[in-house]
Amino acid sequence: MRNWLVLLCPCVLGAALHLWLRLRSPPPARASGAGRAGAGYSVKSFEVFGPWITFVRVLKDQLALLPQWKSRHYDVVVGVLSARNNHELRNVIRSTWLKHLVQHPALSQRVLVKFIIGAHGCEVPVEDREDPYSCKLLNITNPVLNQEIEAFSLLEDTSSGLSEDRVVSVSFRVLYPIVITSLGVFYDASDVGFQRNITVKLYQAEQESFEGTIVWESQDLQGLVSRNLHKVTVNDGGGVLRVITAGEGALPHEFMEGVEGVAGGFIYTIQEGDALLKNLHSRPRRLLDHISNLHEEDALLEEESSLYDDIVFVDVVDTYRNVPAKLLNFYKWTVETTSFDLLLKTDDDCYIDLEAVFNRIALKNLDGPNFWWGNFRLNWAVDRTGKWQELEYPSPAYPAFACGSGYVISRDIVHWLAGNSGRLKTYQGEDVSMGIWMAAIGPKRYQDSLWLCEKTCETGMLSSPQYSPQELTQLWKLKELCGDPCRCEARGG
Ligand SMILES: *[C@@H]1O[C@H](CO)[C@@H](O)[C@H](O)[C@H]1NC(C)=O
Ligand SMILES: *[C@@H]1O[C@H](CO)[C@@H](O)[C@H](O)[C@H]1NC(C)=O
Repeated sequence: MRNWLVLLCPCVLGAALHLWLRLRSPPPARASGAGRAGAGYSVKSFEVFGPWITFVRVLKDQLALLPQWKSRHYDVVVGVLSARNNHELRNVIRSTWLKHLVQHPALSQRVLVKFIIGAHGCEVPVEDREDPYSCKLLNITNPVLNQEIEAFSLLEDTSSGLSEDRVVSVSFRVLYPIVITSLGVFYDASDVGFQRNITVKLYQAEQESFEGTIVWESQDLQGLVSRNLHKVTVNDGGGVLRVITAGEGALPHEFMEGVEGVAGGFIYTIQEGDALLKNLHSRPRRLLDHISNLHEEDALLEEESSLYDDIVFVDVVDTYRNVPAKLLNFYKWTVETTSFDLLLKTDDDCYIDLEAVFNRIALKNLDGPNFWWGNFRLNWAVDRTGKWQELEYPSPAYPAFACGSGYVISRDIVHWLAGNSGRLKTYQGEDVSMGIWMAAIGPKRYQDSLWLCEKTCETGMLSSPQYSPQELTQLWKLKELCGDPCRCEARGG
């Protein structure tokens, strides 16, 4: 039998805690998209559209298999990471630095430029995703409304009793706004009343998509009445919250202390129930519309691809978390279909000066095996929450990684990455993933601050990130006019 002691305010907390999840915050604009393999994404709930989706996929797959010429040799292969809907950025690139390159008598023969795009769009509309970076369905069904919910219940066979652990904590993610009205502790029924001091703390780890941690801490020498997470039932109210367990080798959550488990629980109610019901009601319609939009997008992309012949569709769902996988797939494609010396990776929102890149390669004799040329971030702290949330790299800092606006690697490294692509674990972003992969083989690093990490303009820069299509056009205009994208004083412009 389980016993609950509810610590009503003001025992510990002083006030009910209102936890909000800002569900519909749009993904911050980093046009390249980027991201990690969305584990466990399933399309089960859309079975009604199944045959149709398959049809679209088959078209796409065939497209990806179109015959490729292999015999040409290139000095440099340029891979431009691009999200499916970034038509405008791609077109600006086609009319600026890429156009210049194609028309350049010498360079055009030496460089191959390809946009890297996920062959599959995410089949879940943005507003129905758990977060804007992955393709995971926010799967709320039959929400428990207008009543208090006890977050954890103990399975019957677990007898109570003190454990050894004096500090116990659990982390959870809130997927829809809830209000936590009380926190509580389990206590031993054989005790005469409850005569201990135990603190229960609730931490909020994140603003944007709420992640909370509850820590129970005994104030005396005795252990807590606690349970392993496998021995409790989580009452998720129909899917509004999810307990996060530390996976094998994963980082503990920011505020986790002591042993993972529960030594009590919390009571909550679901907020904005009417809005939730309305949202769930309109979901089927939304999914249908979304699938039809995806179909249109597929058709547009096919058209674009056959018109310009500069897109590589990689067999990946095009989300932010999947960008490292996009990159690995592109390396594989490059190795399988082309002969080349160097590979340059950049994003579709970057200004890039390929002529300057070539000049520098010649000037600095940048070739030879096992090298990596870029602007490196050193001792960059690992983020545990937010867009760059990293829970799988168990270290406080990343190994050196090049800024994503542009870097160059030698052929042997591309071959190594392609050859191991099936085994390489993908982390939170493509830049840090690359750093982690490279740490294993220790390439020669050429540090060069002309690959800019931030959106600034410097005369002589090789690349600079995060521009809008209009800004890119403008930079290139100045570059054409005066040879310098940053200023054009010479001609009074
Ligand atoms: C959604 O949740 C329900 C009930 O928990 C489950 O049966 C179903 O498989 C889930 N669907 C997806 C796509 O995760
Ligand atoms: C609980 O803490 C208070 C204040 O620190 C103390 O006065 C009290 O004796 C403690 N109670 C028990 C049962 O330890």
